[in-house]
Amino acid sequence: MNPVYYVTTPIYYVNAEPHIGHLYSTLVADTLNRFYQSLGYATRFQTGTDEHGEKVVQAAQKEGKDAKAYADRVSRLFREAWPELNIRPDRFIRTTDEAHIRVVTQILQRVYDSGDIYFSEYGGHYCVGCERFYVDRELVDGCCPDHKQELHYVKEANYFFRMSAYQDWLIGYIRENSDFIRPERYRNEVLSFLSEPLEDLCISRPKSRLTWGITLPFDDRYVTYVWFDALINYLSGLGYPDDALYSRFWPAAEHIIAKDILKPHGIYWPTMLKAAGIEPYRHLNVHGYWNLEQSKISKSLGNVIRPRDLKDKYGVDAVRYFFLREMVFGLDAHFSEEGLIQRINADLANNLGNCFSRTLTMIARYSGGLVPVPGETGAEEEALKDLLARCAREVRQEVQKFALHKALMSLWEVIDGANKYIDAQAPWTLAKDPGKADRLQTVLYFLAETLRQVALLLAPFLPQTAEQMLTRLGLQYDAPVPQWDRVLDWGGLPPGSPVEVGPALFPRIEVKKEVPAATPPPKKQVEAAPQAPAAPSPVPPQTGLPIEAFQQWDLRVARVLSAERVPKSKKLIRMEIDLGEQRTLVAGIGQDYSPEEMVGKHIVVVANLQPTKLMGVESQAMLLAANDGEHLKIVVPEGEMPPGAKVK
Ligand code: MSP
Repeated sequence: MNPVYYVTTPIYYVNAEPHIGHLYSTLVADTLNRFYQSLGYATRFQTGTDEHGEKVVQAAQKEGKDAKAYADRVSRLFREAWPELNIRPDRFIRTTDEAHIRVVTQILQRVYDSGDIYFSEYGGHYCVGCERFYVDRELVDGCCPDHKQELHYVKEANYFFRMSAYQDWLIGYIRENSDFIRPERYRNEVLSFLSEPLEDLCISRPKSRLTWGITLPFDDRYVTYVWFDALINYLSGLGYPDDALYSRFWPAAEHIIAKDILKPHGIYWPTMLKAAGIEPYRHLNVHGYWNLEQSKISKSLGNVIRPRDLKDKYGVDAVRYFFLREMVFGLDAHFSEEGLIQRINADLANNLGNCFSRTLTMIARYSGGLVPVPGETGAEEEALKDLLARCAREVRQEVQKFALHKALMSLWEVIDGANKYIDAQAPWTLAKDPGKADRLQTVLYFLAETLRQVALLLAPFLPQTAEQMLTRLGLQYDAPVPQWDRVLDWGGLPPGSPVEVGPALFPRIEVKKEVPAATPPPKKQVEAAPQAPAAPSPVPPQTGLPIEAFQQWDLRVARVLSAERVPKSKKLIRMEIDLGEQRTLVAGIGQDYSPEEMVGKHIVVVANLQPTKLMGVESQAMLLAANDGEHLKIVVPEGEMPPGAKVK
């Protein structure tokens, strides 16, 4: 029987529309789900909406709707948001589902019968936003620490869950199971809550105050506290207690949440399970918060970013990549559109996209569009294979620990390695020498095979990209996710496979850049921008230019990130270069250099010229090259220099 994996997200309140915070948890769950599928696990992925409680009633009233009609509308927004980002849960649960209500009622009755629910009078400061009572010492100037609203003292008779009875058991359980709550900082946070006496949990609301909830089976004057109701979704969605899904998947439960709901998941939930005689979940995986300009994202602050808008603007996999790569799981991260664009351009367009299109273009050009038969291999090929084997190990380890950003970093080391391998092996040079035909075939094969494996490793993260890459390498994509064994099997790409060059995997996002103000050099030099500057005629020193004239030129080292021919031009090559910032440069070097061999080179450019248009493309810098009247040779710094280094 296959091993099993059960991954859940929080069920989201329907008082707000889906935003990037919800997206992140759900995306992580989808990636983990696909990853374990690729390892051959039987998996289950559940998300949904949390629909009862006062907050939802208030939001519904604002729209002039009754609570159920309102919840139906917003729940649908969540359900429809996920497939748009290629997030595919097996179950979308709603707390208004009849089956869920039945399970909550059953568990309440069971805990009540065992004596762990009692009736008592209670007074406290109630926050509707948090749906809970606060004790005096938790308030900040009389206000809720989260919602900053003044709280009023409410006194009422309610039902309580005897949570305190399980405090010692929980401390012991967390101590014995060191990764029950992870990363460690959140485990410590829970242990620190538990170092104070735990109060019993108020689990009812009188119907005189709130009717939108699940009626207590033992007292119909009350509805259930929304958290006692919501947490049970993780069981009811599996058909607890009788369904085979429950007995199969519950022991493998992995909850994903953000730090905001650590206490209900780290304390209420395990004690509720214990009281109901159910085994605890396997792990609680806690991530940090996405912030926008120093504030957390919330509907009330009005700074919500809709996942759908991001997808429409940048594409599914670019958005998936950004979120998975940018956040260190467990810590807070900052969202900005500039950050997103930077990642798309640097990692996806320039690195992955370029490596892929350079490889396929060269196979098309030098091997008739068919994956060649590799010849003898050398140390460089072994190094590439080792890099891949290490990456596969790391991806597996890191994903299992939820360090998705690290898994992606490791994958990008391979892509970097492949780009460097292209530069070092220079297939365009091998192609000029018939004696090197064997070597050329080996190099092209190794590149294509590396990209096949990269695609397989990437599949749980960026499924569409992986599918495109494999299809264009002439392979089949095994939906929903290719099996992991195929990754480690080097040489899985059959020679003779027809490749399809196709469009760029990730088009670069052009951003209007401020060109730094600088003293423009003389007009005629500007016109010569894309060409090598004309050799100056030797001038006697006494009549030469003052040094200040030379200092007006801002010469910099730049790295070529990507290069392509300008359509319909024999000479012009358009390059994206990094000189500390990214710019476009157009140069007339196309008769002496191919775009492929330019990528990765360090060149010298004049950085402070006015931009000029060449065959419709704006050139924002000028490359230096020597010209003997017949051929050009570009000027390069000797040895490594960081992009942006000044040349003087
Ligand atoms: N309904 C409860 C959860 C019940 S689970 C049994 C709830 N809902 S919520 O709509 O407020 O969602 C909170 C969760 O949404 C967070 O734990 C996290 O998964 C996600 N996020 C919402 N905003 C977020 C950020 N700004 N950053 C990261 N994730 C956040 O609490």
